[in-house]
Amino acid sequence: MAVLLTGGAGYIGSHTALCILNAGQDVVVLDNLSNASPEALRRVSELTGKDVPLFVGDCADKDALNRVFDQYKIDQVIHFAGLKAVGESVAQPLRYYRNNLDATLTLCEVMQAHQCFDLVFSSSATVYGTIQEMPLRETFPLGCTNPYGWTKFMSEQILRDLSHADERFHVVLLRYFNPVGAHESGRIGEDPSGIPNNLMPFICQVVSGRRKELSVFGNDYPTRDGTGVRDYIHVMDLAEGHLAALAYAREHAGTEVFNLGTGVGYSVLELVHAFEEVNGVRVPYRVTPRRPGDIATCYADPAKATNLLHWEAKRSLADMCRDAWNWQKNNPNGYHEAQ
Ligand code: NAD
Ligand code: UD1
Repeated sequence: MAVLLTGGAGYIGSHTALCILNAGQDVVVLDNLSNASPEALRRVSELTGKDVPLFVGDCADKDALNRVFDQYKIDQVIHFAGLKAVGESVAQPLRYYRNNLDATLTLCEVMQAHQCFDLVFSSSATVYGTIQEMPLRETFPLGCTNPYGWTKFMSEQILRDLSHADERFHVVLLRYFNPVGAHESGRIGEDPSGIPNNLMPFICQVVSGRRKELSVFGNDYPTRDGTGVRDYIHVMDLAEGHLAALAYAREHAGTEVFNLGTGVGYSVLELVHAFEEVNGVRVPYRVTPRRPGDIATCYADPAKATNLLHWEAKRSLADMCRDAWNWQKNNPNGYHEAQ
């Protein structure tokens, strides 16, 4: 039996593959490599000493998925595959809806046809939209501010409706907060293409000399120091959350949703200063106007995951900063110049 990871060559998928393999289960990956390198999985294989079969194909391609299910006995699936850049989704909404929704729909049809019913889905805290009450609980009303967010919202709804109609389905929706950092080996990590949108990879590229300085988007928010506050979570904690979700899915029919965050928010400047202190480096920055669409504060109430998944984030902000820099330092061009 193996766990299929759609989009498993990407940032969160590759770290999760490593965790699952270390827990003694087999994995198979289907990825169209639109935002990933096969090198990530080669390194997962090197770190674990286990095989990671990669099918290069699109999750919206029924034949490609059928080939995976025909060749391997898949009993559980984690569905990471999707496009994830918020700004790009505003400029190219049809591409985002087509890619992310087709992938979810096709996967569900193929799973049903192959009698595979356990599904863990990568959702996002972005489905909480602009709610101001913190911490965010799973029961809060949802609403999105961009097409990317709506694809997560709609996929959640599709999966709820499916498990309602077909009671054999066991679905776990995971709403990630802000994943950062890398595996402690420094062999796998986040490898954004082009100019990074997110804070931690941008900081890493500034410190490594690839970018001149960090723009801090606004210091007039109603927060401790005026800069935006987020719930950063170490990608290895997040990966372990998927193991817990697989175990939960095995036992529970229907759909359940969980926040995966630490429950603690840090500001942009707190993250910058932690990064400087832990790594003994300087992060040149300049305060610039707010980024349109950003909210002041966003952090999780992770109590439901603690109680029902028996999981909680263990790694500190210092761990996140150290591991992110360790990856960047050892791989200044990501997987590109890999040997
Ligand atoms: P990523 O881009 O590194 O990984 C996504 C993977 O999916 C990539 O390897 C890409 O090549 C693949 N892919 C995309 N469309 C595909 C398709 N149609 N068929 C097959 N493969 C396809 O992103 P990530 O950060 O690892 O995110 C994984 C999932 O988690 C995504 O669904 C993302 O939306 C979600 N998520 C990410 C974050 C984050 O901050 N990284 C936060 C919340 C949710
Ligand atoms: C973004 C996405 C969100 C996704 C999340 C995790 C948007 C609007 N939202 O959220 O959907 O789930 O990433 O990947 O893009 N910042 C700077 N300078 C920078 C970059 C960021 O000051 O160069 C600030 C931001 O204003 C924010 C914080 O750093 O306060 C974190 O930003 P980012 O890493 O982009 O994540 P989010 O905006 O939380």
